[in-house]
Amino acid sequence: MPGAGTTGYTRAIMLNDLLPDLLPANPLEIAASWLAESWRRRDQPNPNAMVLATADAEGTPSARVVLCKDIVAEPGFVHFVSNYHSRKGREMSANPRAALVFHWDHQYRQMRIEGLIQRSTPAESDAYFARRAWASQLGAVASAQSEPISSRAALRAKLDDVTRQFGAEPVEGGPRIPRPAHWGGYLLWVTAVELWMEGDARIHDRARWTRDVKLDGEGQATVGAWHGTRLQP
Ligand SMILES: Cc1cc2nc3c(=O)[nH]c(=O)nc-3n(C[C@H](O)[C@H](O)[C@H](O)COP(=O)(O)O)c2cc1C
Repeated sequence: MPGAGTTGYTRAIMLNDLLPDLLPANPLEIAASWLAESWRRRDQPNPNAMVLATADAEGTPSARVVLCKDIVAEPGFVHFVSNYHSRKGREMSANPRAALVFHWDHQYRQMRIEGLIQRSTPAESDAYFARRAWASQLGAVASAQSEPISSRAALRAKLDDVTRQFGAEPVEGGPRIPRPAHWGGYLLWVTAVELWMEGDARIHDRARWTRDVKLDGEGQATVGAWHGTRLQP
């Protein structure tokens, strides 16, 4: 069985580890602890990989994997980064709502999150971009994500141009790579969370929480109280 014996987990342990009988008020505390546990266990190369689903103005959906940078339980958002001109970026501009799915197969867990999309402030995106690996910064400048290109060689030539401009590696006191305006962070302000754990004999454990979130034009979020309920599997 692929992966068997590599995790230190046995299925029996997981099946005893269901959601608490009394559901906690804030599900994002569990969500953040599941993400932290996934990092500790490193059962998969990208423990923070999540599927991000968006939809265009007509409601046509699309989904892809991105990396979760953080889950902040209070006041309650998920942080990720991308290209604002990509397909997902265009869709989130037209329709600023999205859904996320984490699937931690080794831990028999699924986490579904829905919410409202807000861009990070330019200062936050600058700070995050500056902390990225140099190669990732070069790539973000070179790649017009989701735009067609004639060949891989043409892409390589774009990267070579950017590398010539800034250098293959950072140099003490040398030039820094400015964050391209089309690259930056997103906050997904969470309006719904569903936690799922595999249970015995297919009697899985599910609970869903919802709350209201209002975002004003100034970037301020007003969040309501969580309401949680158990669901049949
Ligand atoms: C493991 C993994 C991690 C990824 N992380 C990101 C990410 O953090 N941000 C991102 O923009 N794309 C990421 N991608 C690439 C996206 O899946 C996708 O190909 C790209 O963002 C273009 O999507 P779009 O055309 O729907 O906008 C990742 C892909 C994989 C497989």
